[in-house]
Amino acid sequence: MTSEQSSDLNSQLNPQLNPQVSSRLTTHEPVMLNEIAQCFTTVPPGVVVDATFGLGGHSKAILKANPSIQILGLDQDADAIANAERMIADDASLRDRLTVRRVRFDCFDSLNAVLEELSIKEISGALFDLGVSSPQLDFAERGFSYRNDGPLDMRMDQRSELSAADVVNNYQESELAGIITQNADERFARRIARAIVAARPISTTTHLAEVIVAAIPAPARRTGGHPAKRTFQAIRIEVNKELEILARTLQIAIDATKVGGRVAVLTYHSGENRIVKQVFRSSEKDADEPKIGSPFIHESQLGTRRVRRVRMAQYPSEQEQTQNRRAKSARLRVIEKALAEARG
Ligand SMILES: C[S@@+](CC[C@H](N)C(=O)[O-])C[C@H]1O[C@@H](n2cnc3c(N)ncnc32)[C@H](O)[C@@H]1O
Repeated sequence: MTSEQSSDLNSQLNPQLNPQVSSRLTTHEPVMLNEIAQCFTTVPPGVVVDATFGLGGHSKAILKANPSIQILGLDQDADAIANAERMIADDASLRDRLTVRRVRFDCFDSLNAVLEELSIKEISGALFDLGVSSPQLDFAERGFSYRNDGPLDMRMDQRSELSAADVVNNYQESELAGIITQNADERFARRIARAIVAARPISTTTHLAEVIVAAIPAPARRTGGHPAKRTFQAIRIEVNKELEILARTLQIAIDATKVGGRVAVLTYHSGENRIVKQVFRSSEKDADEPKIGSPFIHESQLGTRRVRRVRMAQYPSEQEQTQNRRAKSARLRVIEKALAEARG
């Protein structure tokens, strides 16, 4: 992407700046900021995709640490994109180096579609900082928080049809129990699902939180943080289909990354961990276990890995875990592209 293309794209592709929305955003403390910035200092010049732009804290640190790259920032949240546009308008140094798009990366290959549209054949890397951002949690009307009273919404993409109210009020009890177990490892999932169905209709976050708390046996309520935390996480993951789209999107990012480029993923719970581990492991194996006619390798490269792991699963420092609540459960995994894709 040239600087001209970048400025043109910003004006063409992004809707008018909405100061009303962007000015009300709170702050978001980026997790493992230095580790992430360091991770992209060695990548080849070009475009790094920040697939979960949020308030852009990671993007800004990456740009500062490596002057030879540009960032394509993606987010499905209208508030995040409006804020990014304001950042670009306010800071001339970002204009040629940061392009943002309101995009939901999903199973319909929207990441591929954006890269094609911007004529980006290969990227220098990608960052996925999964989960929810602080502004999404802080504004009660977004409906993510069990602490602030708001409507049952939880949509990261305000254009989506499915909201938390649909999941809570319309899913069958067994479906609800399954989601709460799979997305949050909640051991009282069945009791919680039964209590939710009995309390319908539920229209606010605090009502839902009360129902969940009452369904959990009293001794268990006193351990492991707020008793409604896991169930809220599970419903949010279902509303945003977070796990369904992750494996495919990571695979697209790895395929599009050039040799020496890196893909970094910050995860916050076991469901995300499992998927990232699985995708990274299978990418490594592509070259180790070649199929006849494999596009990735030549005989002379047998035993060479298509990607190599740079970080297995790094935890934030103890100090960061104490200072930033979101960092407690974070894990950083990084891979580097070692072999080029065969291009058809
Ligand atoms: C944890 S925040 C990212 C914070 C960011 N790294 C920063 O420094 O401010 C995650 C962001 O990713 C966005 N997001 C999550 N899933 C997405 C998806 N499938 N497509 C596009 N954006 C997504 C959310 O809307 C949210 O703004």
